[in-house]
Amino acid sequence: MKKLRILATGGAGYVGSACVRALVEREYECFAFDNLSTGFSGAAPARRLIVGDLGNRELISNTLRDKEIDAVLHFAGSIAVGESVENPRLYYRNNIANTLNLLEAMLGAGVKKILFSSTAAVYAPSDNLLVEDSRKEPASPYAFSKFAIERLIRDFSKAYGLGYTILRYFNASGGSSDGRHGEAHAPETHLIPLVLQVPLGQRDHISVFGDDYDTPDGTCIRDYIHIEDLAAAHIKAVESIDGEGGAIYNVGTGRGNSVREVIKTAEKVVGQKIEIQISARRAGDTARLVAGAEKIRKELGWKPRYENLRDIVATAWQWHKNHPKGYNS
Ligand code: UFG
Repeated sequence: MKKLRILATGGAGYVGSACVRALVEREYECFAFDNLSTGFSGAAPARRLIVGDLGNRELISNTLRDKEIDAVLHFAGSIAVGESVENPRLYYRNNIANTLNLLEAMLGAGVKKILFSSTAAVYAPSDNLLVEDSRKEPASPYAFSKFAIERLIRDFSKAYGLGYTILRYFNASGGSSDGRHGEAHAPETHLIPLVLQVPLGQRDHISVFGDDYDTPDGTCIRDYIHIEDLAAAHIKAVESIDGEGGAIYNVGTGRGNSVREVIKTAEKVVGQKIEIQISARRAGDTARLVAGAEKIRKELGWKPRYENLRDIVATAWQWHKNHPKGYNS
């Protein structure tokens, strides 16, 4: 069977580039489309990278046609919850308006398949595992922009015959198993890279944002999923898009770990004590976000290879230790 030709928007970002590398390894013709505003040219294979902005509809249309694209993996977007509260118009422009541009360019070029990166942040907080039809309550402009895009895609699907899969990620984490790629954001806001900055000598402690949550140790619980497992889910998901209509899946492990557990695990991995300071809760955080991920296991036959947090943190440490300045190392 002919392999799909794929365009990955945001393909030089943390998750996007992991997927591009996984697709290239499996011999897909795959191109990364990225404006490098937050992505890194070193993250995607050089001859696969097209530097461009999703605001430029003509460039998207030409790229889709020139590269004879069959399916778009849409990772590009702004992702910081706190920033979205302060600067919502950036999120509505970069995420919603640019996705509309992309969808219109796809229709014009006859590209009929899209896989979209959504987020667990669309759900209302819950003590139970979150399943795909759990109640939604996108609290921040970031979360709302992702939720709105889900709706855009479903409406385009119904009206114009687009096939889609929407993946709601939990906490993407870890570095590539060969140690050459990993998490790099500027500024960094994510827990695991910040914790590892302590043993790297880049900060003297990690702040724990609240230890008075209603959880066993008082700190927030998240579902940390390795980027290569996320990438594998994308490949299964894009292959499953079949004509019109689509599906939504959570992508997580179904296992939750608290902030304190992440720090303890990092101490074991690096072999030294990591200083903590308890500080105030961070706005917008919820106590517990853990995926009910049975649907993707059952329907797409996907399951994570990284089953425990220690292995995930070990891959993150391998990357950060050898690349203390990320892609500028
Ligand atoms: N945390 C700290 N100290 C820090 C950084 C984070 O205690 O210095 C805590 C946070 O309060 C949270 C947990 O660590 O409880 C994880 O925080 P991250 O910032 O690593 O990740 P989030 O769960 O906030 O966000 C991630 C993605 C978002 C996505 C969200 C829900 O980064 O894009 O999951 O899916 F929206």
